[in-house]
Amino acid sequence: MKARKSIKAAIICGWVICGLICIASSSSSRVGANEGSQEPSNAALAPNHKKIGNAKCQDCHAETVKGKTVHPPAAEGCDTCHEYAESGTGATIKLAMEGNNLCFTCHTEKQEDLTTKKSRHPPAEDSCMNCHNPHSSDAPRMLKAAVPDLCFICHTEKEEEVKTKKFVHRPVKELGCLVCHNPHATDFAPMLKAEPPGLCLTCHDRRLTYKKNEAGQVVIFADTRIPGDFPDKALKIALDPTDKGHPYIAHPVGGIPDPSRKGKNLSCSSCHNPHAGNVPRMFRDDVTKKDLCLRCHK
Ligand code: HEC
Ligand code: HEC
Ligand code: HEC
Ligand code: HEC
Ligand code: HEC
Ligand code: HEC
Ligand code: HEC
Ligand code: HEC
Ligand code: HEC
Repeated sequence: MKARKSIKAAIICGWVICGLICIASSSSSRVGANEGSQEPSNAALAPNHKKIGNAKCQDCHAETVKGKTVHPPAAEGCDTCHEYAESGTGATIKLAMEGNNLCFTCHTEKQEDLTTKKSRHPPAEDSCMNCHNPHSSDAPRMLKAAVPDLCFICHTEKEEEVKTKKFVHRPVKELGCLVCHNPHATDFAPMLKAEPPGLCLTCHDRRLTYKKNEAGQVVIFADTRIPGDFPDKALKIALDPTDKGHPYIAHPVGGIPDPSRKGKNLSCSSCHNPHAGNVPRMFRDDVTKKDLCLRCHK
């Protein structure tokens, strides 16, 4: 809990209150015994490091690469990202580049996604280190925690929803957040892997069939592997050739504005909560079927 709170506090501090002050004070608090550092900068991680002579960084900082997933450039050495320079009685250790640009030198595809895709995750635009450790961690992909706990560090309201509501959508419960969301950026808000209603119809359209790969998995949304029998477990809805017909004959499920939600198109989540609900079918706002109709037909 403590770790969670402090990560969250650091983030809120970084974004909302005082980005610059926060960075300055955290880099001077890092030096600890070497108080009184000058020119605090995002890149100056250790402005008053002691001289290390012939020692290697790992001799004293072995814990950085002890996690189960180790970042290949950190396994190879430290100087790709850290610049060590001696000055007077001490030394300065700086990052080779500030902020996400350091990561973008190799992960150009992430830079491209975060500049060109329409729906971008604010913490990824802010700093990769909101979720990743740059060296290693015990979670996959050097994440600070495994999904969904990672997401719940900040999205506490979703944690509450998923842990307290009576009906939790099976993909949310069994496959996690990344079946539907990309953690960085996509073209479909909010960082969805496909545009609704297609996103939902991928599993719920009666007309679709699924091909399993050798590992018995089905690949959906181009890059997402799920257990091969999973889509078959989903209740199917029957749409006509014009993609209408649910929940009643000729009823539209997309492609036109949603009268109940300004600026959004009609989609499955106009009526169903995609994550969880207190009534069967996870209707929005936990309404009865009749009240549901009144949301749009007054
Ligand atoms: C002889 C041991 C030793 C060596 C070798 C060494 N360090 Fe350090 N380093 C320390 C100590 C001690 C501290 C201050 C205590 C702390 O914060 O962990 C420190 C602090 C740091 C910090 C700031 C820590 C923080 O929490 O913000 C960074 C960054 C750092 N070292 C990077 C490096 C890099 C990169 C190298 C290799 C170029 C390196 N160190 C080599 C002992 C060493
Ligand atoms: C891919 C780039 C990269 C490589 C390679 C790398 N680091 Fe870092 N390191 C960073 C970044 C970025 C930070 C700042 C993290 C933050 O702000 O949370 C950092 C911070 C640190 C810190 C301070 C606090 C912490 O996170 O532990 C130490 C110590 C450190 N690095 C040591 C090392 C050592 C030792 C190596 C080699 C084994 C190494 N680093 C390799 C990017 C890297
Ligand atoms: C010097 C080049 C380089 C830099 C700089 C770099 N990376 Fe990497 N990173 C790699 C390589 C190589 C891999 C392994 C191949 C791959 O997955 O692309 C990798 C893999 C990763 C992975 C996936 C790990 C896994 O288990 O699949 C993540 C996450 C990652 N890097 C994040 C970062 C972050 C965050 C930064 C900035 C602090 C960063 N990288 C900076 C080269 C780099
Ligand atoms: C909100 C949390 C979060 C932030 C911030 C974030 N990532 Fe990730 N990243 C993830 C998660 C979760 C995965 C695992 C995705 C998966 O397994 O499908 C991941 C996977 C990756 C991977 C390996 C798989 C892939 O998608 O290529 C790389 C590389 C990566 N991230 C780089 C970055 C870089 C670079 C940044 C900063 C620009 C960044 N991440 C910021 C959560 C985040
Ligand atoms: C470091 C904090 C942090 C983490 C970790 C994090 N998020 Fe976010 N996320 C935010 C912030 C801040 C926003 C923008 C403000 C908002 O809409 O809540 C956001 C926005 C979103 C949105 C869009 C919300 C909207 O209303 O448009 C989605 C979807 C989302 N995050 C999903 C995820 C998922 C899935 C994960 C885990 C892989 C995750 N987030 C991890 C901080 C975080
Ligand atoms: C079955 C697909 C699916 C899964 C799995 C999923 N989401 Fe979503 N999520 C959506 C859709 C669709 C929306 C947009 C809803 C809308 O249009 O209002 C959304 C919206 C969000 C939002 C924006 C606020 C809101 O509720 O509208 C957040 C935050 C979010 N999801 C986080 C998560 C987290 C965290 C997880 C994992 C616990 C997760 N999602 C799993 C489909 C999914
Ligand atoms: C206009 C509101 C509305 C929209 C839009 C909507 N639904 Fe429904 N959905 C309902 C109602 C009402 C029921 C309950 C039908 C019943 O019990 O006869 C239902 C039932 C379901 C069921 C359970 C089916 C069963 O056999 O009991 C699934 C699955 C479902 N919807 C998925 C979706 C998907 C996927 C979309 C988007 C393509 C969607 N819904 C769009 C209102 C809606
Ligand atoms: C990866 C496959 C998958 C995707 C994508 C998916 N679902 Fe589901 N959904 C399922 C499965 C499996 C069930 C469980 C069927 C059951 O209730 O027995 C389910 C159940 C449902 C139910 C019925 C819940 C109940 O009361 O039984 C509704 C409504 C629903 N999904 C709507 C949606 C909506 C809306 C989306 C898009 C945001 C969506 N689904 C995306 C697999 C999926
Ligand atoms: C989220 C908004 C929304 C909800 C909730 C909703 N509808 Fe609709 N409905 C629409 C829209 C948009 C249309 C198409 C435009 C129109 O005719 O008003 C439509 C059209 C219809 C039509 C005419 C279909 C045709 O033949 O063209 C009927 C009948 C209907 N709805 C019944 C219902 C019933 C019954 C419910 C409750 C189960 C319901 N609707 C819930 C938005 C909604």
